[in-house]
Amino acid sequence: MIIDQYTRLYGVMGYPIRHSLSPVMHNAAFLERDLNAVYLAFESKDVEAGLQGMRGLGIKGMSITIPHKSGVVPFLDELDGLSENIGAVNTIVNNDGRLVGYNTDAMGALIALKDKVDLLNKRCLIIGAGGAARAIGFVLKEYGVEVSIANRTIGRGKALANTLGCPFVPLKEIGVVDPDLLVQTTPVGMHPDHNQCIVSPDVLKQGMVVMDIIYNPLETRLLRVARAKGCLTINGLDMFVHQGAEQFRLWTGLDAPIDAMTLAVKNALGKGHDRD
Ligand code: ATR
Repeated sequence: MIIDQYTRLYGVMGYPIRHSLSPVMHNAAFLERDLNAVYLAFESKDVEAGLQGMRGLGIKGMSITIPHKSGVVPFLDELDGLSENIGAVNTIVNNDGRLVGYNTDAMGALIALKDKVDLLNKRCLIIGAGGAARAIGFVLKEYGVEVSIANRTIGRGKALANTLGCPFVPLKEIGVVDPDLLVQTTPVGMHPDHNQCIVSPDVLKQGMVVMDIIYNPLETRLLRVARAKGCLTINGLDMFVHQGAEQFRLWTGLDAPIDAMTLAVKNALGKGHDRD
């Protein structure tokens, strides 16, 4: 890779950010498509200042991650239809200083789920009420799945449940839902806190499908326990790569090299590049 005066800059903004493999994935994609572009990780608590920097320095595109997916919305110039409906943004395109928000989490999750499960007439419990939960809840409702929301902060959980027109369940009471599909969207269990698990084991039943959107580690404690209980488990890798592929398409107008992106993430996880 040659970095020169024409190199275009992209990045991911979140807090914390050092666990993120978005730089590894997107730089592999740029290299595979022979693009003069580079992608960096920006750890920031201040969304507004981050976006000012993006405008001021002409950073071409930004991924947005925890905890900013909803908070970034008021600072954007425009939202595409899907991200406006969802109320959360995970991708920004900088069109000559005009920042446009998109949500590729929804499509990434749908592709990852549909690959492994027939979603028709399924009952789904989503754990969490942040940006990722909003995107997944929205897309599953669109698909005709019966959705419930559980969340640590009751007010926030109820607000999302209201938006989606679905029931809210306190985290301590998720046992009563008995879902076919459980989707975990919080950072609980993510590196470096991989011993944490937000779901009590007795909620998990044989035959249940359990998806954790965390990809680092690939098998979270939740997925390990679920697998031992005879659940079908889906880790966060496919969703991560598919949401990234859609970002790549938005930023470059090109089809994403999905195999190269997947390989780069798997290699980085194997080599412990996430451990800094
Ligand atoms: P994003 O918008 O990027 O998804 P977020 O808005 O910070 O990020 O949402 C993260 C989700 O994980 C929220 O549902 C949050 O719960 P609260 O609404 O109670 O904050 C949840 N979450 C984060 N850390 C958690 C923890 N330690 N235990 C339980 N839930 C947690």
